[in-house]
Amino acid sequence: MILLNPGPVTLSPRVREALLRDDLCHREPEFAELSLDIRARLERIYLEGADAYAAVLLTGSGTAAVEAMLTSLVPPTAKTLVVANGIYGERMATMLLRHRRPHTLIQAPWLDPLPLQRIDEALAADPGVAFVACVQHETTTGRLNTIDALGEICRRRGVGLLLDAVSSFGAEALRFAEWNLIAAAAAANKCLHGVPGTAFVLARRDTLGACADHANSLYLDLHPLFREQRAGWSPFTQSVQGFFALQEALREFDEGGGRVARQDRYAAISARLRRDLPGLGAPLLLAEGDCASMLSAFRLPLGVGYAALHDGLKQRGFTIYAGQGRLAPEIFRIATMGAITDADVDRLLDACRMLLAPSEASA
Ligand SMILES: Cc1ncc(COP(=O)(O)O)c(C=O)c1O
Repeated sequence: MILLNPGPVTLSPRVREALLRDDLCHREPEFAELSLDIRARLERIYLEGADAYAAVLLTGSGTAAVEAMLTSLVPPTAKTLVVANGIYGERMATMLLRHRRPHTLIQAPWLDPLPLQRIDEALAADPGVAFVACVQHETTTGRLNTIDALGEICRRRGVGLLLDAVSSFGAEALRFAEWNLIAAAAAANKCLHGVPGTAFVLARRDTLGACADHANSLYLDLHPLFREQRAGWSPFTQSVQGFFALQEALREFDEGGGRVARQDRYAAISARLRRDLPGLGAPLLLAEGDCASMLSAFRLPLGVGYAALHDGLKQRGFTIYAGQGRLAPEIFRIATMGAITDADVDRLLDACRMLLAPSEASA
């Protein structure tokens, strides 16, 4: 089965085999070495941030990392402006609401870009805002948000940027000083091709060192995690096998040429899909220039229901992804993360031809 959903991803044989290594207790020195190696590899993905930023590892899904970032790096009384144009942006506001943290939400329609002027005006009008929180790749629609422009606003206004980079970390570019980036939250099982269960926050070392007592959660407090992980330890049991898998995935990532090579690979597969599927009656939801490299949302062709397309592709060995919320009846999504070969893409496109334009496929 080839997974074309935006995480978890199809594993490479090496990553799958890493799950079968010898059992290891998380209080043994080999585990500390493993953690230190993973942290160092994560911190080197973006060389620009290698010195000033540290990776803090958590056992949990991407949501855990986002929630830990928002609630342990931001002081309890500081105000966060959440900017949302999809489900994951809106979820960040819900987190702050649940934690009773001061925040405001600028909510754009899901198909719209970030409302930059409104954001700038909101920051000008409320000097109490200390942080802006946003999603880099809004997986709801596949939009790569214009973080260059948002980050420029944050830097100009002296406001820290907190980024949900769960579905983009390891492929899309991050700019650290230019964006006044405080932290980016991400997970092992998306662009890094590890398994679900390990997440992390890459955050400024000075912010991590100074955030004791910010968190109201024990488990999601990044401060003790950062303190202990400097020597490789963790206060709680980590997903040991998930760590083995992530280490192997990061070795493959480095051997494959790193972030830019991965982004290029995703973009090459996406380009084939974006070229062929509109011709089969499934136009791209967004303009191509607005799309992230690793995910495309297509409108369902007239008369084709999502369930029929999903089930037909599943019978042929591919799992695609439905739209969420109000987009569910209208779209389907195809992600290009994971160990996907050109031959897989050939077979996928053949299967799409059969299911979307059967008369053309048999002609
Ligand atoms: C942008 C973004 N943020 C957060 C999440 C939540 O991640 P998880 O389901 O691993 O908790 C996702 C999941 O797809 C995502 O795409």
